[in-house]
Formats: sequence, structure tokens, C-alpha cells
Amino acid sequence: MKTTIAQVGRYVNEEVTIGAWIAGKRSSGKIAFLQLRDGTGFIQGVIVKAEVEEELFQAAKGITQESSVYVSGTVREDDRAPSGFELAVTGLEIIHEAKEYPITPKEHGTEFLMDHRHLWLRSKRQHAVMKIRNEIIRATYDFFFENGFTKLDSPILTGSSPEGTSELFHTKYFDEDAYLSQSGQLYAEAGAMAFGRVFTFGPTFRAEKSKTRRHLIEFWMIEPEMAFVEHEESLDIQENYVAFMAKCVRENCQLELKQLDRDGSKLEAIEAPFPRITYDEALTLLKEKGFDDVEWGDDFGAPHETALAEHYDKPVFITHYPKSLKPFYMQPAKGRDDVVLCADLIAPEGYGEIIGGSERIHDYDLLKAEIKAHNLSLDTYQWYLDLRKYGSVPHSGFGLGLERTVAWFAGIDHVRETIGFPRLLNRLYP
Ligand code: 4AD
Ligand code: MG
Repeated sequence: MKTTIAQVGRYVNEEVTIGAWIAGKRSSGKIAFLQLRDGTGFIQGVIVKAEVEEELFQAAKGITQESSVYVSGTVREDDRAPSGFELAVTGLEIIHEAKEYPITPKEHGTEFLMDHRHLWLRSKRQHAVMKIRNEIIRATYDFFFENGFTKLDSPILTGSSPEGTSELFHTKYFDEDAYLSQSGQLYAEAGAMAFGRVFTFGPTFRAEKSKTRRHLIEFWMIEPEMAFVEHEESLDIQENYVAFMAKCVRENCQLELKQLDRDGSKLEAIEAPFPRITYDEALTLLKEKGFDDVEWGDDFGAPHETALAEHYDKPVFITHYPKSLKPFYMQPAKGRDDVVLCADLIAPEGYGEIIGGSERIHDYDLLKAEIKAHNLSLDTYQWYLDLRKYGSVPHSGFGLGLERTVAWFAGIDHVRETIGFPRLLNRLYP
């Protein structure tokens, strides 16, 4: 029976054939162990010299790392195996013999591994991280479709800049200037007025010269936008979404979390509701913790965020930031126009800002004034202003960074390992 490693549990004590690669090998004079991988998982193949034809034993002993094979064998239950099964190999057909695979079992430096990202993706660790990413993507679609959202794809080539003009990738659009999208939000707002609740999910680009473990030049963002939803209700939706993803990863990625030595209790703690504190309260807390370097109006840096998150055993929303720190479209708070109805969700363990969101200005004149005050072109934003001209309603939305969420859930310390082919400040290869 032809099957996959993920499915072998259905064929205990039966003979199966799997298309696989040789991830690793150990052998002595009497027994050979093949670490087999097929993309769906990993399993150990065992070949006992005394029990098989000499030719098969020699083939197994001589096979090179990353050669591709059709391997046949009997599925055995094995408590010691991470997957619970191993394969008593009865046949090995070599499809292609790999020559001198560069990533050997010895330690390699990160730069070397990043140069070989196209091959590094095959490793157990990268497999686990990417499977967790995949589960987060699956959970995202589930959550939003189950909650009545419509997916609206926003364009990558745009003429406007939602998050400020300093971080844009410029390109030519025939005779016009264009920019790679840094956020789909403004288009999602148009979508919300057409479909009520929408989400965009696509790549976004920041030409930001940041070289930290949280910054990618190209990253994927999930951006829901909701008509008739005000600030507080948006936070309810955000925490339910994040908690749902954590639950899905906990339940469906047990092998992967084990592979990464991720402490399961960290994910169990991600349960709604999350604490909500204002920027002002956060500032007081920071002062109490001995941070004398921040004044009202300053943005929080990574050490501040980490200290705030450590104070709680859960992700924490920081709301009502000073208006001067945030983009032009955010709704001012009632009775206090120096702060806006926004929230950043800060993850524990130093993973930093996972979500940025806000209620949006829905008053035409106020939005127009903000566009002008930020020296943005009214022509470019006329379509965006139109949304406030024809049946404007209070609405809110947010953006969740996929790679930071993967890093957090998987417990790995750099976002470069959370996406197939990371685009970093000094890396466009492979
Ligand atoms: O806070 P940001 O810039 O917000 C927006 O773009 C809004 N338009 C979102 C919205 O309201 N629809 O980005 C949102 C999230 C951040 O919290 C972070 O998780 C992630 O996107 N992010 C990055 N992830 C990796 N590398 C970068 N350079 C990132 N910049 C932001
Ligand atoms: Mg932000």
C-alpha cells in the first residue's frame, strides 16, 4: 500500500511503500537505521542484517544523506519513537542518489544555513516551525470564516502609504510612481463598507533598515476590518482570535512543539480575556520598574515591551497611545484628543508587538484635516475619504504579524526561521 509517514498509523503490522528522502543514517555491522522523511513527517526505518537479503542491507548502509527512495516495510508500533511508529524495512529502491549534501549533522553557523535556506527547510526543526506556521494560517481562515468575515485581497502595488512614508519600497508603475503595500488596511476599510466584516491576508513590505530578531523586510499580515465595531469590541475579537490560534496549535501541533522543546504551558496561558492597560498606566508601571528613560509621548522600545509583558502571565493590550506616535487614521479618544483609540498587543517572553490596531476616524472633516496635517496628498486619499462621505460608520480593525506569531507560539528567537524565504536587511538570496 502506498502511503505517507503521517498516515502509517492506519497500517500497523502491514506492508507499506513510502516515497521518502534519507534525512540521516546510522549503522553497525548488524543493523542499520535510516531516518526517513517524506514532507508529512519523520520515521525511523530499521534493517537487521540477519533478517534481510545482503543486497538490501548493503544498499541501506551505503545510502547517502538526502537521496530519494521508495522504501517498503512493515509498520510497527514503537513507544520510543516520537511519532509512535517505525518501519521494518523490506525493500529500498533508490530514485536519485544525492552527492555531498552540504548540511551535515555537525553544527553549522546561521549565515551558512541561511545561504542554504532552500535545503535547510528540510530539517526537522524547520519542518516543525513551518508546520506550526501552516496551522496558524489554517486556524486564521477557520476563525474568520466561522465568524462571518469575507476575505478581500488587497493590492500589492499601491499609490498610497497607510503607515507613514518613510518605509516604502518605491517602484515605477509605467509612468506613475508606485509603492509595494505596507498594509492592506485602507482597502480593507473599503471592503468593510461593502461586506461588513472582511480580512486581508497577504505579504506586506517595509523598507525599514531594522536589523532585529522581530523585523522582516517582507512579512505576512492578517488585517481584519469591521463595520459597526468600536474599539473595545475589536479587542474582544482580537483576543478570541489569538486564543483560538493558540488552542489550534496546542492541539494539532503536538509533535512539532515537542520537536522544538516548546513548553506547552506557555501556550495554555494564552486564554481570553487578556489584560488591557492604557499607555498612561503602562508608563506608570515602567517608572515603578525603574525605567527612567521614558517620558510621556515616547514610544516603547523592546526592553519596555518585554518588561510590561513580564508583569502579566498573558499577552497584554496597551491602549490609548499618544496621537503623535500613531498614523493619521486613528480615532481620537472621547474627551481626550491627545490619545487615540488604538491598541498594541504585546506578547510575553519578549516576542514583542504581535498586533497593532485601532478604531478608524469616520468623520469626513476630521479625516481630511488629519491627512492635511500629515502632509499627505488629498488626491491620493480621495477614494479613502469617499468612504466617509457615503454612509460612514464607526469601524475598527487590526493587523497581526504572522511571523512574530509563529516565533512566539513555536518559541524560537528570530523571525528569520518563521517564513520559507526570509527577506532581511542584508539578504535577498536564496
Ligand atoms: O503596527 P503595524 O505597522 O500596523 C499596521 O500596518 C496597521 N495598518 C494594521 C491594521 O490596523 N490593519 O503592523 C501590524 C503588525 C505588527 O504588530 C507586527 O506584528 C507586524 O505587523 N509587523 C512586522 N512583522 C515583521 N517584520 C516587520 N518589519 C513588521 N512590521 C510590523
Ligand atoms: Mg505597530
